[in-house]
Amino acid sequence: PTHLISAAVVAYLIGCIPFAVVVSRVFGLADPRSFGSGNPGATNVLRTGNKLAALLTLFGDAAKGAVAIGIAAAMGLNADLLGWIGLIAFLGHVFPVTLGFKGGKGVSTSAGVLLALHWPLGLATLGTWLFMAFSFRYSSLSAITAALMAPVLAVLMGLPTPVIVPVSLMAAILLIKHAGNLRRLLAGHETKIGSKKKAA
Ligand code: G3P
Repeated sequence: PTHLISAAVVAYLIGCIPFAVVVSRVFGLADPRSFGSGNPGATNVLRTGNKLAALLTLFGDAAKGAVAIGIAAAMGLNADLLGWIGLIAFLGHVFPVTLGFKGGKGVSTSAGVLLALHWPLGLATLGTWLFMAFSFRYSSLSAITAALMAPVLAVLMGLPTPVIVPVSLMAAILLIKHAGNLRRLLAGHETKIGSKKKAA
C-alpha cells in the first residue's frame, strides 16, 4: 500500500510536467495557452509552424505515461494496478498542479500509457489515430475516434478488467476535454493539421 501511494504520487507529478509549455519556452515560442486552441499540447505547438517543438512535445507528453508505468512496475507494483497508475499520470497531464490544474487534453499521454500497458492495444489505437489523421487531417477528430475505439479494441483483444476500466475512464475524460473541438468540427471551424495559428 505505501508503494502504491508512492507510485501514484510519482505518476501524478510526472504527468504534471507540461512539455508544451516547457518546450515552447526553450524554443522561444509563444506560450501555447495564448493562441490557437489555447491547449498546451503538441497540436497547438504545431500551429506555430515549429515541427520539431511539436514533435518534442508529443514525445515528452507520451513518455510521461510510459515512464510512470515503468517506474511503478520497477517498484514491484501488482500488474493489475498499472492501468490505474497510467490513468493517474494522464490525470496529472489534464489537471496539473504546475499549470493551476488547467492542462492538456491527454492525447499524447494516453498514447504513452496504452503503449506501455499493452503495446498491441497501443499500436492499434495509434493506428486508428494515424488512419483518421491521414484521411481527414484533423488532430481532434483523430483523437476522438481513437478514444472511442480504444475501449472497444481492449474488449475485442480480450484484455482483463483492470485494463479495460482505466482505459475507458481515460477515453471518457479525453472525449469530455474535446467538447470544444467537437463543436468546432460540427460547425466546420476546426483547423486542420499543419495550418498555422488561427483563433479558435
Ligand atoms: O492534442 C489534442 C488534439 O486532439 C486537439 O488539439 O489544439 O486542436 O485543441 P487542439
